[in-house]
Amino acid sequence: MKIIKVKDSIKGSEKSFDIIKDFLGNNMSVIGLATGSTQLQLYKRIIESDLDFSNTISINLDEYIGLAKENKQSYHYYMNENLFQYKKFKKSYIPNGDNKEELELERYNNIINDNKIDLQLLGLGENGHIGFNEPGTSFKSKTNKVKLTKSTLDANKRFFDENEIMPKYAYSMGIGSILSAKTILIIAYGINKADAVKKMIEGPIDESVPASSLQTHKDVIIIIDEAAASKLN
Ligand code: F6R
Repeated sequence: MKIIKVKDSIKGSEKSFDIIKDFLGNNMSVIGLATGSTQLQLYKRIIESDLDFSNTISINLDEYIGLAKENKQSYHYYMNENLFQYKKFKKSYIPNGDNKEELELERYNNIINDNKIDLQLLGLGENGHIGFNEPGTSFKSKTNKVKLTKSTLDANKRFFDENEIMPKYAYSMGIGSILSAKTILIIAYGINKADAVKKMIEGPIDESVPASSLQTHKDVIIIIDEAAASKLN
């Protein structure tokens, strides 16, 4: 694991931007994308740049089940708002939260099998989740239907208005699929992530901490700010 410690999220987004730029310069054909607040500054930086993704396919990690693509809380909406309306990709894939489980899992697994991910971007959940793979998920898992844990529901309810019902389930690319990416870039900022960062890097490799699976991958880059790194030995 290559650990890059930065002062704050501004420096972190610069670093992650540089890595993506290098991969593009080396003809990256498929990038795995994440949503969440961690990636917002990075996407802003990308939008302001002249990076060209017209030859790159994007594959997103996850989507809530039961939200239409137009719903403001859906990850389709997030990606359009924060990246895709400004940067055109060759093709972009996001799980379809409106599709029947059996069909969607097969469709998304086929997409991942047909498009080997060169660089997978990840955020880190406070409970150590990657994608929406909650503690206990098999490290061999493919795309799956996930029951979101209380920790994730609590962490993400800030995005929902009071009168909006937050979905309890999501489709997520599995941990096995994430680990099949050639390179993984995981980013975490803030004191809320410090415990998960410690377990990811220093803890035992155990399915109770999905991010500890990254210790088994040969090419992982971790970008953390001082607060997120504060509990590391
Ligand atoms: C989002 C995703 C999640 C988030 C994680 C961190 O597509 O897969 O794993 O990356 O929950 O979320 P933020 O960045 O909002 O703290």
